[in-house]
Amino acid sequence: MNSSSLQAPVAKRLEGKVALITGGASGIGETTARLFAKHGAKVVIADINSELGHSVASKIQSEFEQPVTYVNCDVSNETDVENAVNTAVSLHGKLDIMFNNAGIGSWDNEIASIVHERFRQVMDINVYGGFLGAKHASRVMIPEKKGCILFTASGASILAGTPYAYMASKCAVVGLTKNLAVELGKYGIRSNCISPALVPTPLTASGMGLNFEEIQALGSSMACLKEAKLDAGDIAEAALFLASDDSKFISGMNLLVDGAVCLPKM
Ligand SMILES: NC(=O)c1ccc[n+]([C@@H]2O[C@H](COP(=O)([O-])OP(=O)(O)OC[C@H]3O[C@@H](n4cnc5c(N)ncnc54)[C@H](O)[C@@H]3O)[C@@H](O)[C@H]2O)c1
Repeated sequence: MNSSSLQAPVAKRLEGKVALITGGASGIGETTARLFAKHGAKVVIADINSELGHSVASKIQSEFEQPVTYVNCDVSNETDVENAVNTAVSLHGKLDIMFNNAGIGSWDNEIASIVHERFRQVMDINVYGGFLGAKHASRVMIPEKKGCILFTASGASILAGTPYAYMASKCAVVGLTKNLAVELGKYGIRSNCISPALVPTPLTASGMGLNFEEIQALGSSMACLKEAKLDAGDIAEAALFLASDDSKFISGMNLLVDGAVCLPKM
């Protein structure tokens, strides 16, 4: 590497692209919205938390001088998702990246005591929400013959022993990802998902009753990769790679960001 390449400014990897991020008001979605804006994307944050969403959008916008808009959207409601996609297109003329990230946890480890309504709610948000995002994004991406659909699945998609509703929902997200890659590849549209291990966010902190340091320590104890600690920025970097043209021939992948989760030594 010569000295001029060492001094080169960091390239903006999403310059001119338009991204819609569900669940973008908090945690992984918020961090990704920030990174995407830093890399030149125009971002639309779709969430149910209007107060937080508006404030996050205006902070990111002033930090990076990129248009960042908030739209209220319950991903389990088709009209809301349709409206969020249409908002991105009417504001910016297109949609390049649909990041179906909104999700909720479940903490149900005993099949006999699972409440039907709660199971259904997890599926409605984590699966049906992703399906609706993909459906409406593909509606506007197919005529353009390009686009990128991303999902946040979870390490639970490959790890038995995680909560029932959550695991079922995240396995379904992987299925959606792979089928979309098959159907939409002919239009130049890629579909991938990211499967994080334990990331310290409001979701895990409130669900597990732990602080961020405790969540990171628990995550590290399950990973073969020692020393590094997982945070939302690592998931945002994975999303940036999959959303950018750097991954132009990658589709149908479930990218694990888990430091190689392994069994404890016997
Ligand atoms: N934190 C982790 O350890 C972890 C691990 C694997 C996967 N995930 C997944 O990452 C995604 C983001 O989670 P997070 O950890 O950043 O959580 P978070 O709670 O910090 O953020 C989730 C966001 O989704 C929004 N949301 C919830 N229901 C919604 C709905 N119906 N419509 C629109 N928005 C809604 C919330 O308001 C919130 O802003 C989820 O899909 C989650 O399952 C998280």
